[in-house]
Amino acid sequence: MGYYNENVIDDIDPNIVRNPSFDEWFDIVESILRNDEFQRRKLFPHHHNMSVWDHSIFVSFRSFVMGGIFHCDTRVCAIAGLLHDFYPLAWLYNEELAALDNGNYMERLNRKEPLFKRHGFTHGREAAENYIKFFPELEDPKITDAIKKHMFPLTIGIPKYKESFVITLVDKSNSVHELPNPIVVPGMIKNSVVKIFNKQKFGK
Ligand SMILES: [Fe+2]
Ligand SMILES: [Fe+2]
Repeated sequence: MGYYNENVIDDIDPNIVRNPSFDEWFDIVESILRNDEFQRRKLFPHHHNMSVWDHSIFVSFRSFVMGGIFHCDTRVCAIAGLLHDFYPLAWLYNEELAALDNGNYMERLNRKEPLFKRHGFTHGREAAENYIKFFPELEDPKITDAIKKHMFPLTIGIPKYKESFVITLVDKSNSVHELPNPIVVPGMIKNSVVKIFNKQKFGK
């Protein structure tokens, strides 16, 4: 499969690579970026034509920089930012990802789940379990808390550490940046309404 790239820096946004803080951040996260399972996040769709790989790198780098400003543990910010969406199963379809591991990554797409078991509510906890599975040497209470609660206030617990607040804030601000241009939103709403209507009426 064509997702793995030894030259990790080639797959990082050049604006981040050119930033004066890049080398310091890269030293902390390089081993995660080189990990095969983590590189598969290039095939996990996030929102709006962005991959989980790109989104996670943005959240990690910005959290690292912001953490420095607020006197946080910047190593925790960099690692938790990178792994905050490291949940095991995709919630959106991707053909290349479906071709890996007998389509196991797509298992969730066929499930009918009650509202509180859906991706938005559960993926923080799933990512917190998954990072310990793949990176047991990184296990740390602050990293676990930041990953588990990054969807606050959708989570049951309140973030415990200032690093956790940095991750949840940067993730939310990033999601706003990743939103589509407001001009196209009415068309998107119309398409969604038509889709729901067709599903109700024709079952498709
Ligand atoms: Fe998330
Ligand atoms: Fe995220």
